[in-house]
Amino acid sequence: MTNYKVADESLAEKGKEALYIAENKMPVTAKVIRERFAKEKPLKGITIAGCLHVTKETANLARTLKAGGADVWLCGSNPLSTQDDVAAALVKEDINIFAWHGNTDEEFYWCIRECLKAKPNILIDDGADMIITAHKEFPELIKEGIIIGCQEETTTGVKRFKAMDAAGDLKVPLFPVNDARCKNQFDNELGTGQGIVAAIYGMHVLFAGKNVVIAGYGHCSSGMALRARGLGANVTVTEVDPIKALQAKFAGFNVMPIEVTLPYADIILTATGCKHVIQPTKEIFDKLKDGIILGNLGHFDIEIPTKELYEYAKEIKPVRSNVEELLMPNGKKVYLLAKGRLANLVLSEGHPAEVMDMSFGLQSLMSEYIVKNRDKLKPGMVDVPVEIDDRVGFLKLQSMGIEIDILTKEQYDYIHGYAEGT
Ligand SMILES: NC(=O)c1ccc[n+]([C@@H]2O[C@H](COP(=O)([O-])OP(=O)(O)OC[C@H]3O[C@@H](n4cnc5c(N)ncnc54)[C@H](O)[C@@H]3O)[C@@H](O)[C@H]2O)c1
Repeated sequence: MTNYKVADESLAEKGKEALYIAENKMPVTAKVIRERFAKEKPLKGITIAGCLHVTKETANLARTLKAGGADVWLCGSNPLSTQDDVAAALVKEDINIFAWHGNTDEEFYWCIRECLKAKPNILIDDGADMIITAHKEFPELIKEGIIIGCQEETTTGVKRFKAMDAAGDLKVPLFPVNDARCKNQFDNELGTGQGIVAAIYGMHVLFAGKNVVIAGYGHCSSGMALRARGLGANVTVTEVDPIKALQAKFAGFNVMPIEVTLPYADIILTATGCKHVIQPTKEIFDKLKDGIILGNLGHFDIEIPTKELYEYAKEIKPVRSNVEELLMPNGKKVYLLAKGRLANLVLSEGHPAEVMDMSFGLQSLMSEYIVKNRDKLKPGMVDVPVEIDDRVGFLKLQSMGIEIDILTKEQYDYIHGYAEGT
């Protein structure tokens, strides 16, 4: 029996088409690993619960885990990022799923609880909400050793788990898949970079000639700054880390405090993982340029002070799906994308399947690794093994028909030794 709650089951055919297109762009996850998993069944008898953005790419991860023998349960990791057609298609494929676009905070946690009730052995999280809920509300899953290992997909989730681990509160083995090279150097940089185009597209504005401010110069935000410049924008970067700020400056971007940018910024896009990147005060709000577009691509909806902007606005008018026009008391208009939530996922379809292939290749192989090593794993954060990171890299290169050099024994010994000098 499939357990589920989705928005509209009749969207399944449309979702199936989306899955097909993504599948063809995910040769590592949806072909090489899936075909091996189907033969070897490394996840037989294992229940996996994922709290992930329910997109066509995630659907292909679910298919691969299922091919490996797992009983798969899915819920959305953001109230607005679920693609309802994809969720409907997964019901038809016997994936247990609790996800729909536009759920309330209460419904969001209800969906997580429905997945945890299935007593999962592996949790795959995106933002830490599922694993933290397991600690708080389902402690028996940890005490009785039902959960054997967990994975975290995004930077904000990893930061929360680092804090939890430092406080001695992390009681499960946790692999920060986000920090693997095959993940954050591609998914975060290239996916989010390209995502800004998708996010802004429906606003009918040209990037060319616009003053675009990118908050942050980390993995996501540096990709966004580069793409905005590529489209012809005059790009300013804001930072709190002096080294990142220097990197942005030497890469040719303007660098200054965000407050200075407000009177001239046409578009501000945030992806910092920080709170109130634009400070929530009337004085700051009054400085925003008339017609400014505000969008966030960071995990939570607190980077742009959404709640305070809504309170301060005289009128809030939806101007298209997931875009609102806020009339400020000084008569200026502010366009807020996606209620301050991940604009690339809410206004478009998230990262391209080609890049998610690597993130989900890692998640698939890490699920297998957790099962194989279940007796050795200890509570706390453990890095993704380099061999798995490399394997996904090699598989991706292979799928693109690209070969690279392999170290000879002499070269290997040289770079790992200290005997040879001048
Ligand atoms: N939209 C998506 O699809 C997507 C994809 C991956 C990650 N994310 C999320 O995006 C966020 C950023 O992830 P990342 O991997 O780029 O993190 P990162 O740590 O590599 O980069 C964040 C950068 O923001 C800077 N920063 C922090 N506070 C700031 C502030 N107040 N003002 C200006 N800069 C500030 C940091 O110094 C850092 O350089 C996280 O919330 C992550 O979970 C979103």
